[in-house]
Amino acid sequence: MRAHNFGAGPCALPLDVLEEVAAELTDFRGTGMSLIELSHRSKDYEAVHMGTLSTLRRVAAVPDDFDILFIQGGATMQFAMVPINLLAPSQRAGVVVAGSWGKKALSDGSKHGDLVAAWDGVETGYTTMPGADGVDIDPEWRYLHVTTNETIGGIRMVELPETDVSLVADMSSDYLARPIEWDRYDLVYGGVQKNLAPAGMAVVFVRKSVAANPANDVASYLRYEFHANSDSLGNTPPMFTIYVMGKVLERLEERGGIAALEERSAAKAGAVYEVIDGSDGFYRSPVDPAVRSHMNVVFRLPSEDLEAEFVATAADRNLIGLKGHRSVGGCRASLYAALEMESVEVLVTFMNDFRATQ
Ligand SMILES: Cc1ncc(COP(=O)(O)O)c(C=O)c1O
Repeated sequence: MRAHNFGAGPCALPLDVLEEVAAELTDFRGTGMSLIELSHRSKDYEAVHMGTLSTLRRVAAVPDDFDILFIQGGATMQFAMVPINLLAPSQRAGVVVAGSWGKKALSDGSKHGDLVAAWDGVETGYTTMPGADGVDIDPEWRYLHVTTNETIGGIRMVELPETDVSLVADMSSDYLARPIEWDRYDLVYGGVQKNLAPAGMAVVFVRKSVAANPANDVASYLRYEFHANSDSLGNTPPMFTIYVMGKVLERLEERGGIAALEERSAAKAGAVYEVIDGSDGFYRSPVDPAVRSHMNVVFRLPSEDLEAEFVATAADRNLIGLKGHRSVGGCRASLYAALEMESVEVLVTFMNDFRATQ
């Protein structure tokens, strides 16, 4: 039986994609071998690679002046690659710190450039996001880094900061679940292991003029230019991840693309928040209601013992991955693209039943 997988990443992938992958695994399209045994320079793999790139460009409506790069090292490596490529030694950039991932973007990035916190949610315990005019921005900054969804805290950036400074966004946990305002960005990145694919890389969308002019002279793999000039085939790419992502993107397109996913995500999250809000305080959302995440619904129960019992009883009913991040505790239901409304309905029923037994 398939699990209802509420994991925060890696997480659920579409069942029909997994079945198709399984069917193709030992003999990929008559080659007599699996895709992951093929040469990455073969025509068969090249068709897969270019197909994924072009589907992604279509689905995300990526303008011609942006390159699409597949880079290993996940989103974490982008914390370093962004300042390495965008920030010359004489320049400074700002980072919105609205949670654990913004904090990491600042601390890791600071090893490679002059970054400052443009806004910090520490005083409210990282339970809210700044509004459009809430960030203090120096117009001289090279860029402003934002995290559009804080996966651990369970909050989303509803409005982008109002500024002429170019934005850089980590969209790992709401990737392609909201439209991307391309004219506001120099670069958008995210690990693929939530909405898009198995783990193994980040997708980086970077303005061509930015990729072509690295701010620092570093080893080839760390330069966006290297990946851009080779269609991300400069070295051996994570072929399996790229292949599965192509299929996931095709499904996403068939189901109405980003706009439809945004709507489905809001509906799924809305159903869980409704149970929380209607539970007379049994379940409690610790975050500002105006910025509640559509992807990671974080909630508390009256005690840590009850939270442990909730997670264990849920697992007995095949509801997996509901434990909150180890750094904050509590419970968290991650509702990524491949998690269907039926799974959310099972969760909602369980939450109501569990409360009734207390
Ligand atoms: C918002 C955000 N940024 C960065 C990361 C780190 O991603 P990776 O594991 O791909 O390095 C995560 C992982 O959960 C995340 O949610």
